[in-house]
Amino acid sequence: MHISCSPLLLLLLAATVSPNGALSDDEKRALVELHNLYRAQVSPPAADMLHMRWDEELAAFAKAYAQQCVWGHNKERGRRGENLFAITEEGMDVPLAMEEWHHEREHYNLSAATCDQGQMCGHYTQLVWAKTERIGCGSHFCEKLQGVEEINIQLLVCNYEPPGNVKGKRPYQEGTPCSLCPSGYRCENSLCGAEPSVNSGLNSGLGHIGGPLLGLLLLPSLVLAGIF
Ligand SMILES: *[C@@H]1O[C@H](CO)[C@@H](O)[C@H](O)[C@H]1NC(C)=O
Repeated sequence: MHISCSPLLLLLLAATVSPNGALSDDEKRALVELHNLYRAQVSPPAADMLHMRWDEELAAFAKAYAQQCVWGHNKERGRRGENLFAITEEGMDVPLAMEEWHHEREHYNLSAATCDQGQMCGHYTQLVWAKTERIGCGSHFCEKLQGVEEINIQLLVCNYEPPGNVKGKRPYQEGTPCSLCPSGYRCENSLCGAEPSVNSGLNSGLGHIGGPLLGLLLLPSLVLAGIF
């Protein structure tokens, strides 16, 4: 089984910097919530999309890698999926990172399982990879990010288990939402959630999927988008 490694997108914006750049609890919640929001809203709909939950071990793993300040995939990531995002000067912008990853859907053809030539789709396909159910992310402020000329960059690393982007496979099966949930899972907001509780840990009290967060999905003006 081959896991493809998607190219990376670097976004450079202008604004202010947060000191060490660690994710706040709100940002962690937003990451899980937005993943699940986008997963619940895929078009065409998904029959087998699992609910994603935060995983502290993955988060620690992602954070440790972010702290190395390298612009490139973690070669030691093992059987973990990985999405990266970097932004200059401004603090981490979770909704923007998610929007950038999700935007790649425009270039992805689900029925053919292909990405338009010269485009990236790997962040999107990981985001909506049906069988991926654990996510952990870490962020770090890097005065110098190895592999990038710009300085003062906020790096976001998200790791996923099980990993997505298995070569030749579609991210999810098209069909009526939840019609192909694994046994023992129940349907909640068009996603297959594991019993006993899909709302454990960081997800507790997050009943507002589709609520206020959507208002934050406005893109600041981009200075540069580069492909690496
Ligand atoms: C997706 O790929 C299929 C098979 O190659 C093709 O028939 C279809 O037109 C494509 N859809 C889009 C939206 O390009």
